[in-house]
Amino acid sequence: MKTKKTITDNTVDPDILAYTVGDDPVLDLALARWDAMGTAAHVTMLSEMKLKKPVVTKAEAKKVRQALGAIVKLAEEGKFEIRVDDQDVHMAVERMLTEELGDLGKKIHTGRSRNDQVAVDVRLHMKDEILRAESETLALAGTLFKLGKDSGAIPLVGRTHLQPAMPSTVEMWATGHGEMILDQIENLEAAYRLADANPLGSAAGYGVPLPLDRARTTELLGFSRTIHNCFGASMARGECEAALLSALAQLMAVLSRLAEDMILFSMPEFAYFKLPREYCTGSSIMPQKFNPDVLELVRSKAAQVLGLQTASLSLLHAMPGGYNRDLQDCKWLYMKGLDITRTTLRILAKVAAGLKVDAEKCRAAFTPGVFATDVALRKVAAGTPWRDAYHDVRDNLGQLENEDPDAAVALKRHEGTCLGIDHMVYARRCKQLLKSVNDRHAVLLRKCGSLMK
Ligand code: ARG
Repeated sequence: MKTKKTITDNTVDPDILAYTVGDDPVLDLALARWDAMGTAAHVTMLSEMKLKKPVVTKAEAKKVRQALGAIVKLAEEGKFEIRVDDQDVHMAVERMLTEELGDLGKKIHTGRSRNDQVAVDVRLHMKDEILRAESETLALAGTLFKLGKDSGAIPLVGRTHLQPAMPSTVEMWATGHGEMILDQIENLEAAYRLADANPLGSAAGYGVPLPLDRARTTELLGFSRTIHNCFGASMARGECEAALLSALAQLMAVLSRLAEDMILFSMPEFAYFKLPREYCTGSSIMPQKFNPDVLELVRSKAAQVLGLQTASLSLLHAMPGGYNRDLQDCKWLYMKGLDITRTTLRILAKVAAGLKVDAEKCRAAFTPGVFATDVALRKVAAGTPWRDAYHDVRDNLGQLENEDPDAAVALKRHEGTCLGIDHMVYARRCKQLLKSVNDRHAVLLRKCGSLMK
């Protein structure tokens, strides 16, 4: 038996080939294990298909699965190689299986196209990555909750329009950011649910004249549902990527606001916070400088992820139905978005854990105006209607005095205000989310391992 050098035709002009292959030989390395998983499920399903003459027997399917297991091992050791000739991971895996198993390797693509193959790889990869991103999001939120808890009721000037507004606490600031970050998991979960559907068996987007059991691969791969319509399954490529990028862009915008607050409040003019020296970077000319470059880059990365989201939608919006090669370019967009966001989550957790709070600077920043609303509310307590109390204070702003910020903070006790932050609310939510993330991740990895036997 002779194996041709390339699996499809090898008549393509080298420049054209290189342009169309793009960065797939590198990017697709991240898909190797998921490609093997998809192929293991497909070949198992093929071996169970009721045909007069089986495409592959159960014993052959087992051989393929074991060879796929060896390929995954190679990938884990960094020894899996995708050549430009292969074009992508799918054909590299088929080439290796054919080198290893001869004619049997040539059968694995029966009833399948690279279109449904890459779609399934991307979805499995996304499920894995989203769960990892969610646990990093939880870790960052947890760090902020701890910062809040540890700083207790240190008074902080609450601001609106950046102007001094009302008494607040460092705890309310830190946990407020933490809760907003935690909420972002809802968007990631929406992207996860969209990704958690099986496109395999849609082939090139129109199905095949073979009795494929699509529900079977859905079950083997652990997807929650099958994308019913084969044409729809092919069109859904890219949509998942865009949905994920939208969740990532929004998360990054939230992270960027946290970074911005930290930059602002660690300016010497505020000095509420101090970044550890080793987290700051210097200047080549100004010896006194300790700059928060790391946080400035969070802002710029947020802009980049928004750009990636825009790119994904721009790429999709005018594309005709069915597979088009444009879709290949969705791959680096979502992979880059994930990479930037996950790195940012980890770096911010480190910065937040190292942030030092200067309680005295926080207290010293209180000015009489910060107590104005509280003064008006004292008049209300003495029987003055609110609007009259408001005007009384506004007409006599010069008479406002600086008060004790700790005492002011101590009076604010209803749910979610200064002394009304209930850490159990956060602990319960984090525990529940972490369990759900870990459970799903364990199932995904277990399914992947057990399919390769
Ligand atoms: N690398 C390709 C992609 O990501 C695989 C699918 C190629 N399909 C095709 N019909 N040319 O889109």
